[in-house]
Amino acid sequence: MIVTVASFKGGVGKTTTAFHLAKFFSLTEEPTLLVDGDPNRSSLSWADRGELPFEVCDFDAIAMAARKAEHIIIDTKSYPDARQLEVLAKGCDLLILPTTADALALDALVSTIKAVRQLKADYSVLLTKLDSRETGSNKAARELFESRDIPIFKQSIRQLSAFKKAALAGVAVCDVADRRAGEAWNEYKLLGKEIHDA
Ligand SMILES: Nc1ncnc2c1ncn2[C@@H]1O[C@H](COP(=O)(O)OP(=O)(O)OP(=O)(O)O)[C@@H](O)[C@H]1O
Ligand SMILES: [Mg+2]
Repeated sequence: MIVTVASFKGGVGKTTTAFHLAKFFSLTEEPTLLVDGDPNRSSLSWADRGELPFEVCDFDAIAMAARKAEHIIIDTKSYPDARQLEVLAKGCDLLILPTTADALALDALVSTIKAVRQLKADYSVLLTKLDSRETGSNKAARELFESRDIPIFKQSIRQLSAFKKAALAGVAVCDVADRRAGEAWNEYKLLGKEIHDA
């Protein structure tokens, strides 16, 4: 399966999502490849810090690395232009669009989803970095997508400091010393199952 993670706003959790989905798929024991499509090389530098159960490469090395992979997760840079988005969306089985629940992020996403819709790609919105205390606005964000018939994952990802620790350590959140690491990992594990079983 080829999954691409893209967004029109920076810092919404693309790299964190791509990294943890790669971890999830690698646990199925099928060869998994994480492609870092961001010139900032954030996935690659995350991978450099720790030892990983999946391969990580950049776009230049994709032809060589993809041959062996059953699952390919592609992390991308923010603000893809129309052509980049089209190529990314058409070339994958699923396009994941992470967003936070704040109004600016939602506005940016809703307007650009119109472009994705025309591409007839399979896509789904993922709510990320949710503040558990803001239940009202989290619910409103979900309802906004549902009311417009925009596909959205049942599973969302809360804002938990364990994710920052994991990025610093170069490991997935399940491998970090934090009392909420298990909870944090469970959110991506459930997301992975939702994708895998769809
Ligand atoms: N669920 C979360 N809880 C807490 N912190 C998070 C969570 N998801 C991501 N972060 C943190 O938020 C920051 C941005 O996340 P990330 O790098 O995954 O976003 P991005 O969309 O890839 O950003 P960019 O547009 O710069 O590539 C990082 O410091 C990351 O550790
Ligand atoms: Mg990133």
